[in-house]
Amino acid sequence: MDIANTPATADGNPQMADAPPEPKQPPLIRREDYTPFAWLVPTTHLDFALGLEKTRVVATLDVERNPDAEASPHLRLNGDGLEPVEVEVDGQAANSWAMDGETLIVTLPADRHTVRIVTEIDPSANTQLMGLYASNGMLCTQCEAEGFRRIAFFPDRPDVLSTYTVRMSGPKAQFPILLCNGNNTANGEGEHGTHWAEWHDPWPKPSYLFALVAGDLVANSDSFTTRSGRKVDLNIWVRDGDLPRTDHAMRSLKKSMEWDEEVFGREYDLDLFNIVAVSDFNMGAMENKGLNVFNTKYVLADEETATDGDYDGIEGVIAHEYFHNWSGNRITCRDWFQLSLKEGFTVLRDQLFSQDMQGEAVKRIEDVRVLRGVQFPEDSGPLAHPIRPDSFREISNFYTSTIYNKGAEVIRMMRTMAGPEKFRVGTDTYFDRHDGEAATCEDFVKSIEDGAGLDLQQFRLWYSQAGTPKIKAELVPDASRAVLKLTQTVPPTPGQPDKQPMPIPLKVAVHDRASGTLGEERLIVLDKAQDSFVFENVGDQPVLSINRGFSAPVSIEREISNADLVFLAARDDDPFARYEAFQDLVVGHLVAAASGDGLADDAKSAAREDITSAFAAILADDALEDTMRGELMLFPSQTYIAEQIEAADPGRIFAEREALKAHIGAALESDLVALHERASAIPFGFSQEARGSRKVKTQALVYLAAGAPEKAADMAAAQYDAADNMTDRQGSLMVLAGMTGTAARTGRLLDFYNRYKGNDLVIDKWFAIQASSLHPSVVEHVKALAEHPDFTMKNPNRVRSLYMAFAGNPHGFHDASGEGYRMIADLILELDPLNPQTAARFVPPLGRFRKLEAGRSALMREQLERIANADKLSRDTYEQVSRSLG
Ligand code: PHE
Ligand code: ZN
Repeated sequence: MDIANTPATADGNPQMADAPPEPKQPPLIRREDYTPFAWLVPTTHLDFALGLEKTRVVATLDVERNPDAEASPHLRLNGDGLEPVEVEVDGQAANSWAMDGETLIVTLPADRHTVRIVTEIDPSANTQLMGLYASNGMLCTQCEAEGFRRIAFFPDRPDVLSTYTVRMSGPKAQFPILLCNGNNTANGEGEHGTHWAEWHDPWPKPSYLFALVAGDLVANSDSFTTRSGRKVDLNIWVRDGDLPRTDHAMRSLKKSMEWDEEVFGREYDLDLFNIVAVSDFNMGAMENKGLNVFNTKYVLADEETATDGDYDGIEGVIAHEYFHNWSGNRITCRDWFQLSLKEGFTVLRDQLFSQDMQGEAVKRIEDVRVLRGVQFPEDSGPLAHPIRPDSFREISNFYTSTIYNKGAEVIRMMRTMAGPEKFRVGTDTYFDRHDGEAATCEDFVKSIEDGAGLDLQQFRLWYSQAGTPKIKAELVPDASRAVLKLTQTVPPTPGQPDKQPMPIPLKVAVHDRASGTLGEERLIVLDKAQDSFVFENVGDQPVLSINRGFSAPVSIEREISNADLVFLAARDDDPFARYEAFQDLVVGHLVAAASGDGLADDAKSAAREDITSAFAAILADDALEDTMRGELMLFPSQTYIAEQIEAADPGRIFAEREALKAHIGAALESDLVALHERASAIPFGFSQEARGSRKVKTQALVYLAAGAPEKAADMAAAQYDAADNMTDRQGSLMVLAGMTGTAARTGRLLDFYNRYKGNDLVIDKWFAIQASSLHPSVVEHVKALAEHPDFTMKNPNRVRSLYMAFAGNPHGFHDASGEGYRMIADLILELDPLNPQTAARFVPPLGRFRKLEAGRSALMREQLERIANADKLSRDTYEQVSRSLG
């Protein structure tokens, strides 16, 4: 059946005459409906007889009535695709059970029982990668959020904490290594070449933190001694050939352990910490107690195969998962609406860690770029939700940039208002009060409030209101003073038409352009719809520097001249504000040029001159480190620019943005060539200087490619050929991949492929470089790559490397024909039956249609409707598509 041509019925659901009616829609789960579970499960025993095609699981649960819940004789155990093979209560085969859909209900007469249930699963058929699945001949698990129910019947909710003992057995040759949470307590040999291991985790945990791994793995082993003297064995488990690429991950782990002791006073609490790298994984990594499971992308690195960005990503994700041991595991979430309790806080913790490792300013700019590139669009679109959502149909859809990144920003604001020392008292209070519990966001806020001595009453709105606040700022000079007039509005979002003003902490300074004097920084909190703040002794030409350090996740509109922005871009003492000034200069120009009637020629060239002179100042500033210079040189993303325009035309934005790059590249050609030469002379290393040189080197090529393409092609080819590291190689190949009329493009792409054939992570880069390229034929390239023998729908990294890169490529995805939208819709429909979680992640780019000019808007919407009308959709994709259209 050609789904594209299926006529829709009145309610939008195509139904064939005699097909059984599909369940209308998955149920909506509401935060306010929370009730505690009727039973406690103090201990859980699991016994696994492992096999790739058949694994038998015996789950034995000691249960007792929960005195804090409404009593019920029914023990409701979640299942997903499971059938109970045997059910026993207190050692006797039981018939007091029934299935209610996927849920197993066991009726229990007394206050305490032991329930034993046998299930059988086929890990090799598990393409969703949730529950127990096979990857490259090994077995591993992913249980967050609701994957445990695909392994065993269980109250699969985060507020049911249990102490687990696990026994697993399997063929020794196939699975020489058997790992689980906690400590390895016993091992032995069985019949027919099998062996077994027993593991015990002394820390009660929810089922989503359960993990098991069985496979042929080797470890990079080391140890860390905690400050109270506990010696912890550390292992990073990988496939045999990957061992040489694990040193950076191990160093990152040890630094994380030390940092969490120093900065948050948190020590590790077991004698063993295992990390396993798997190549088939839906997300980045998972914080299972004592047994973190990682996407190989966030473990493996050496200079030949990983970029500086990859190294930083590994350091950050290793830290993130390790930090979860306290913010997530020791204190977990009461329900999934509280997800930001662990994720927002843990992201903040990993950001602060990376700031300490790599330098605060650059890391802050990078984090803000992600927030504005991903979270702001989410917050202004149909999928907007508060950091503590009120409802969902499929929790996997709520692992969002809002929960993670905005969640971190909200906690960061508390820290900014309290100051780091008092904030630490607040987090200590939180850890003391709630250790061992399944807590709520409210518990966290209350702890910070009490511990840090802040009044967070109104601040709690940040947890309940979605949408990015908009601040209008006007600096009105008044003799020797200046009055800063601020207004805030929080835009309406789905289900939240009216908003209240929120407390917004803004770091502000007023500089003087006339004398070049820099004003002192002040922290003001705007907590009303409108307010004014007076600055004394401001000088003759006061210039506003606001939201310094990006102290609040808001968007600022300020009346400011280009001359003032050029001044700030060259002189502001706050590195973020300096970055921001240049971004504003570029964004302001591109918005004007690519919307409405556009700009007259003279206005356009005047703005281009301002931008070029600011850019020249960035290139020439000897006091700048190259790591920072590289940040300042980066153009605002197309998505971020489009966000500022009603009915945006991606084609116009793209053309104007490229034209501006070309202008800079041509006007500053010799400076850029000189910068490239200077940077190329610095030998490879991991010092800030060497890393910075690699960053500016490729940035120089980016502008030269636009403004002096022939020269750039030669330089990029030379950089590629001389590269002794992946950063230089990938950077030059990225530039070449976007160029036409150069033989260097095809030659180097082929060389790259042949050089790294068989290394999945690097071949992912090869796909992504082409899918995100500026090349005019990118649509055709992506279609061809989808037919490449190395492309597979079964591996999420590979799917993302081709299609996420493409969906983020403005001139491919937004091709005026609508072909890009169709390709992403095709992908969603093909992937949904295999891996709904990953399929649903491709819906948000299609949900942006309300923001686009009419032609593309209609084409995009058509594709969403085509998906909505498909015969059978997963809960994941159904929810995302219906919200996007809704
Ligand atoms: N909890 C993981 C993290 O943030 C993310 C994750 C969610 C991984 C769901 C897998 C599945 O670190
Ligand atoms: Zn996390």
